[in-house]
Order: sequence, then structure tokens, then C-alpha cells
Amino acid sequence: MGNSERHAEVNAIVSRYAVRDAGKDALRYSWLKPDVHLAGMESDRIMLQFFAAAGLSDLSRVSLLEVGCGSGSNLLRFLRWGFDPANLVGNELLPASLERARRYLPSELELIGGDASQLDCGPFDIVYQSTVFSSILDNGFQHKLAQRMWDMTRAGGAILWYDFCYDNPKNPDVRGVSRRRIRELFPRSSPVIRRVTLAPPISRTVTRLSPHLYSVLNALPFLRTHALCWIPKPASTGVYPGQ
Ligand SMILES: C[S@@+](CC[C@H](N)C(=O)[O-])C[C@H]1O[C@@H](n2cnc3c(N)ncnc32)[C@H](O)[C@@H]1O
Repeated sequence: MGNSERHAEVNAIVSRYAVRDAGKDALRYSWLKPDVHLAGMESDRIMLQFFAAAGLSDLSRVSLLEVGCGSGSNLLRFLRWGFDPANLVGNELLPASLERARRYLPSELELIGGDASQLDCGPFDIVYQSTVFSSILDNGFQHKLAQRMWDMTRAGGAILWYDFCYDNPKNPDVRGVSRRRIRELFPRSSPVIRRVTLAPPISRTVTRLSPHLYSVLNALPFLRTHALCWIPKPASTGVYPGQ
């Protein structure tokens, strides 16, 4: 992918976010909503299982970069789990979101503005992305960012991934990233892929009746819309063979 195509997609991402209604998003994703905190608890549990299965015993010593960190809510979660702020780095394209993240996060935690595909830092034990790839509509750009994430992950480390797998018919500005596509983006890895998150339109409706319905319906895997993945980078290789 050339520099002009990259610029075009970055500008397109910025324009797509500019027309989003921030107030509506804040309400929809408020922690006060049972569907939001129940989905959050589910992904917390599985992420912590990934960490334990990978043999991470002292999270204060684990380094992590989040690309597209938005206002920093995931980084706050990692801090709560015991990560050291000096070992966490956040990156975000939109200056207003980066500014909000700066207000909430400790000053030892480094925040880097700009396009994640141009980052040159690390290597990190974990490189995390949460609903960033579904905001990228250009295939070449997705590959470029996947390659950058891979390069910034230390050999023996992993990419942590949370994103939805299906298109949203009501929102043409995003597209689902299927499990097959995740494997294509990281051909040198054997990802552990867990289906999570009860389909938001269903979960918003049923949790208004009773929060217990979240886990009842979420027991049916075909109603889960997101993938939470642990994408390990083998200890012996450092080169990404992508496009
Ligand atoms: C849906 S939001 C998710 C924010 C955060 N990761 C979360 O889970 O709360 C996607 C974020 O990715 C950012 N983003 C998209 N493309 C990016 C890129 N190329 N470089 C850095 N950030 C990017 C957007 O600006 C936006 O803040």
C-alpha cells in the first residue's frame, strides 16, 4: 500500500468519525447500561484467562501497547488489573479522543497521537486492538496495520484482539472482521479465538427486562457477534510475511 492510499484511508476514517454523534455513542456505551457492563465483564473474564494460560503471573511487569485506544477506557481496565502505567502505551488517531484519554490516565502512561500504522516503538509483550479494524474499510490498510502490530510485538508475546465479526446493516462505516480474515491477517500465528458478546440489539432489549437474560441467551454461541482473540507470536520468528 502506497503513502497516498494510506493517507486517503486515514482521512476517510477521520471523516467517518466526524459524522458520528458523540453524545449518542456516550449514552449507548455508558457503563450504567446492563448490556454494556455485562459484555465488559464477559471479556474481562476471558482476557484474564488468556493471560493466565500464557503464564503471565505478574501483570505489573507486562508491557502493552493499545492501538486506537479512544478515550482510554481499556487502558484504565489494565491499570485496575495491576499493570504498571510506565509499561502501558496508548495510541489514538483522533486528537479529541487522545485529549480525553490524557485527562483520565496517569502521566507515566505514554500516549502517542497519529496513525497506528506509522508507529515505531516496542517491542511489547502484548499489542492490543479493540474495534479498530472494523473501522478500517481498506483491505491493504488492514494488512499494513496488522503487520505493524506484529512487528511491535516481541517474539514470544501476543496480539490481543476484540472486534465484531459481522457487518452492521445500519452502519456502512464499519465492517465485521471474520475469524477467517483474522487468520489471514496473522498467517504466522495460530490464534485462539473465542466468540463473545451477545448481539448488541438483542442484549440491549433483553437486559431491560432482566440482566440475567444476558447469560441465558449468550449461552447460544450463534448469538455472539464478537471475537476475542489471543494471537501469539512464536518465540523463534520475528518477520511478518504479509503483503
Ligand atoms: C470504535 S473506537 C474504539 C476505541 C477503543 N479501542 C475502545 O475499545 O474503546 C475505534 C478507535 O480506533 C481509532 N482508530 C481508527 N483507525 C486508527 C488508526 N489508523 N490509528 C490509530 N487509531 C485509529 C479511532 O480513532 C477510534 O478511536
